[in-house]
Amino acid sequence: MSSKFPDHFLWGGAMAANQVEGAYQTDGKGLSTSDLQPQGIFGTITPRVDGDSGIKDVAIDFYHHYPQDIALFAEMGFKCLRTSIAWTRIFPQGDEETPNEAGLAFYDRLFDEMARYGIQPLVTLSHYEMPYGLVKQYGGWGNRKTIGFFEHYARTVFERYKHKVQHWLTFNEINMSLHAPFTGVGLAQDSSKSEIYQAIHHQLVASARAVKACHEIVPGGKIGNMLLGGILYPLSCKPEDVLETQRQNRDWLFFGDVQARGGYPAYMRRYFRENGIQVEITAEDQQALRETIDFISFSYYMSGCVTTDEAQNNTARSNILNMVPNPHLASSEWGWQIDPVGLRYLLNVLYDRYQKPLFIVENGLGAKDRVEADGSINDDYRINYLNDHLVQVAEAIDDGVEVMGYTSWGPIDLVSASKAEMSKRYGFIYVDRDDAGNGSLERRRKKSFYWYRDVIQSNGNSLKNKA
Ligand code: BG6
Repeated sequence: MSSKFPDHFLWGGAMAANQVEGAYQTDGKGLSTSDLQPQGIFGTITPRVDGDSGIKDVAIDFYHHYPQDIALFAEMGFKCLRTSIAWTRIFPQGDEETPNEAGLAFYDRLFDEMARYGIQPLVTLSHYEMPYGLVKQYGGWGNRKTIGFFEHYARTVFERYKHKVQHWLTFNEINMSLHAPFTGVGLAQDSSKSEIYQAIHHQLVASARAVKACHEIVPGGKIGNMLLGGILYPLSCKPEDVLETQRQNRDWLFFGDVQARGGYPAYMRRYFRENGIQVEITAEDQQALRETIDFISFSYYMSGCVTTDEAQNNTARSNILNMVPNPHLASSEWGWQIDPVGLRYLLNVLYDRYQKPLFIVENGLGAKDRVEADGSINDDYRINYLNDHLVQVAEAIDDGVEVMGYTSWGPIDLVSASKAEMSKRYGFIYVDRDDAGNGSLERRRKKSFYWYRDVIQSNGNSLKNKA
């Protein structure tokens, strides 16, 4: 395939502090909400009792293995690595005035190591975690004060890393708070819609304040939002199904609309009114929201369908996002429907809507891998998944969509977010650790490692368009 990817396309991988670093109490780190969710992002708080341990406490121990791991990413030719800063390494409780120097120094070392290989960091300020202290003392994002604590954290890291990090993201999958309120905004799972949207509003204001701070502090810095790109299709062409699909797509596009257009869309005001949802939005908040992001970033794993048929909806309620399965698509071992064409469609939808550069910051296949007797891991299923999605990215670029880069999820095996498992593997690099935490943590190149190296080296020329 001849390359449609622009020069300077940011090829790389993406991960998050709480899924790789481990060292959950090292160098003064405070407890984060993620440290209290040993079952994953849909779990609520599990108080930690002495002697308790969770898979994320060590994760893949990236905190101590990062030089080796960055060298492997460099061997694949990465131009970019997306990771997050653990807020609790910088402000252990969340409300301190002075940051924790040991935490700041860790990310200095990490970014310096990446710079040695010319790998640009793409840094998420908050990836599915916040200081638990802010939840306990203030009620998480339900409290307006959290906006100020977050802004202080954002300004601190912008000042510290302004000459090392050019690309930033505010909140990972900000739209997930509707499904996982504790993970997203530090609220109980059974919170009311008004409470959840109020907390989301505070987070949107905080995001806009971080955008402003980034523009003030980081010379030439660019900052984006991060959406779970859960694109939905109508299951049928019945007009009611089509309209309901538009409504449900707006549930998540709403976040992009506020962040990219600088204010609440009219359809949301109607939704709040008709559902008795009360959200306090001050004139100052409205002013803050006018500071819009420079680019849109999103994750993409699957698409789903929407119907107004209640019987089919009831069956679908068992899966995490209540999505009705598409009869034309196959699924991964975890039931996620595989839809490469959906990525091209989504890229076009987002570009038509916002006309801002797009960054695919997560995409990949979670699967069980087998280590053969000779030590090899032949993950052709992963290669096929990634190849087919990247072919569609190339098509979208040809459609005229401006795509800044592609960071596949979990370039090295890590702890899964939804179920906190090691066995759901995404990596080009295998990590010897199982769901019970056994294993040497040894790293091993999979077949996909060499495949991705060739894709990057050829700037996408080696991809195979099978159509
Ligand atoms: C995204 C998250 O939802 O999907 C990641 O931003 C997560 O943190 C990824 O790991 C894949 O989900 P899972 O549950 O397979 O880890």
